[in-house]
Amino acid sequence: MIKRREQMIRLDTQNTTLVIKADTAEYLYYGKRLGNGFEFGAYAGGGKKLFSAPGKDDYTEYSILFENADGGFVADFTFSKVRILPEKPEIPGLPSSYGEGKTLELKYVDTTRAALYLYYTVFEDSDVIAVSARLFNGTKKDLRIRRFMSLQMDLPGTEYNIVTFEGAWARERNKVSREISSGIFVNDSKRGMSSHARNPFIMAEDERGVYGFNLVYSGNHKETIEAGDPGRTRVLTGINDFMFDWTLPVGETFCSPEAVMCFAPDEDTLSTRFHFFVSEHIVRGKWKKKERPVLVNNWEGTYFDFNEEKLLAIAEAAKKTGVELFVLDDGWFGKRDSDTCSLGDWYDNLEKTGGGLASLGEKIRALGLSFGIWVEPEMISEDSDLYRAHPNFAMKIPGRTPTRMRNQLMLNMADERVQNYVVRVISDVIARSGAEYVKWDFNRSMTDCYGKGIFPGEYFHRYMLGYYRVVSKIMKKFPSVLFEGCAGGGGRFDLGNLCYFAQYWTSDDTDARMRIDIQAGSSYGYPQTVMGAHVSASPNHQTGNSNSLDARFNVACGGLLGYELDMTKFTPQEMEEVAQQIEFYKENRKLLQFGDQYRIDEKFVKGFITVSKDKSMAIAVLNQTVAYPAMPLVTVRLKGLSETTVYDVTRRDGKGSFTAEGDLLMNGDLPLPDLFDRETVFRNSGGLSSCMYILKKRKN
Ligand code: GLA
Repeated sequence: MIKRREQMIRLDTQNTTLVIKADTAEYLYYGKRLGNGFEFGAYAGGGKKLFSAPGKDDYTEYSILFENADGGFVADFTFSKVRILPEKPEIPGLPSSYGEGKTLELKYVDTTRAALYLYYTVFEDSDVIAVSARLFNGTKKDLRIRRFMSLQMDLPGTEYNIVTFEGAWARERNKVSREISSGIFVNDSKRGMSSHARNPFIMAEDERGVYGFNLVYSGNHKETIEAGDPGRTRVLTGINDFMFDWTLPVGETFCSPEAVMCFAPDEDTLSTRFHFFVSEHIVRGKWKKKERPVLVNNWEGTYFDFNEEKLLAIAEAAKKTGVELFVLDDGWFGKRDSDTCSLGDWYDNLEKTGGGLASLGEKIRALGLSFGIWVEPEMISEDSDLYRAHPNFAMKIPGRTPTRMRNQLMLNMADERVQNYVVRVISDVIARSGAEYVKWDFNRSMTDCYGKGIFPGEYFHRYMLGYYRVVSKIMKKFPSVLFEGCAGGGGRFDLGNLCYFAQYWTSDDTDARMRIDIQAGSSYGYPQTVMGAHVSASPNHQTGNSNSLDARFNVACGGLLGYELDMTKFTPQEMEEVAQQIEFYKENRKLLQFGDQYRIDEKFVKGFITVSKDKSMAIAVLNQTVAYPAMPLVTVRLKGLSETTVYDVTRRDGKGSFTAEGDLLMNGDLPLPDLFDRETVFRNSGGLSSCMYILKKRKN
């Protein structure tokens, strides 16, 4: 709800309040929901600004910097007007949240007639506020924008715990915390992708609660936190100003991507709010609320070494276990038998597919499975017909040797001709294969950014605008297809992509043990509804750890279940075990995929509990991650249950059951040692023991 009394504006969600004083461009309050009063006058003048442009008396990191029409960097934006818009404005060319209307628009104008617009949309149901900014060039000269952040939030005080989600390829989004009480801290990406290394989601915590910030963007991002004089902590989030220099012609507008923010009393509540927000207001289309199929993907099963016979054998085995979708990964096109060639040659390799995608798809469907394919549309191999025909489609600087990553170059997606080409060829692949699922991969960072006629300082962002144009065009043509995003695992796992992809491959690390942290880290800002999670072979191909089939399944139930191995290698017992896993998963899929998931994060026990919306049922996966010879007492407290409900709790492996009230399960310390299978712990070199519990409301 947005209420206005003169220049004082109150934005309320169910549980939070933001108060803005429009004429002085200040935040007066952001935090837990306040009573209905409107007496905020005494809180003005605290110096918590909605935006900052340097060159005057604000020396903190700034949100806006451009070369103004009068020759300096100074912009003195003064208040012009407030409007409350009935419809949330679209951000041209960029993805953004949807499903809520009323938006506060604030306008500030400089003497040169450059105008700054700020937008605040209130998502009452999820306690999230979406914020974006626009710069309109009303001057008589082109403006050169050097920095234009989406959101500035000046938090009171200088003692915050700043939490980020960091890592690298195959170890994405591990939680990292540090106290920032002075100085400048930056979380960013300069890779042309939101990156495996630093996700745009961050949190700032103090004793009052947790502020969460995220960006609806998949390219270079930057989150700056500056603490210190004058007694505040400034948070900035937006496009990275690294190599950014954008010319804004007279009469045109530059739009920032959308940032989103939320406040909650604790981390769990913040996650619940973001989960709801992402599921309701970011993910869209046919698959938004639809149960996702259990898939088998051949990548870790065969890598590039496959033919039709092998694929059909895997599909047949998969069908017997209850799998619903067969995904043909990399290697089906051109002459691609390794990662050194053929990206861009999206025509069927008849030897490997036994007559092409269409015929393979038919055979897969005849087995009773849906058919899915892998593509990497933004890439080009130098050893490809595409490159030989159109070397200028590649992103590289003329006369300079480009940097190769995974032996490949990128397409210059900032160029409209290249965009149109990609739309055409990828649409053709989807149409001719009849694929019901498409995995869209992106396996390298950007280097050698260059496009003829494109100013270098605009390249990164123009690439993103091109990418979003291509993705949205293709997806509009195939509204029924389930698109899963992927970037060497979770390298572009961000809200920008989730506006298009209903799910995202979380990480190339499929080791259950490593996945516990990767999925838990991801779950701070993103729901399980978007996280691809696969059972793969043991020993694991990335780490060498061995884990039981049971543990691998349990951990994958924290996301969208798939299998990524050669199922023909299963023993009859393993086939039976997997069939039981999938049967169980399907019975509980609605709960596991769309229930409320909470992290379990105790000293020796990590995992999750997913609770149905009505709290009558829950599934908890508890993983013991270390094994000592004389193990200390291991206890656990569950989360998200109804305090007053009595639950019958059973282990999925049938090795025990008990009954307890929700209150006790959440506040008591449930001792676990005798519930763990110690033998499994010692047998597995991964040292991981996992147990799934099913909680059902007791019938009276
Ligand atoms: C990336 C993906 C994998 C797989 C390979 C294929 O690494 O993350 O899942 O698709 O590419 O080359």
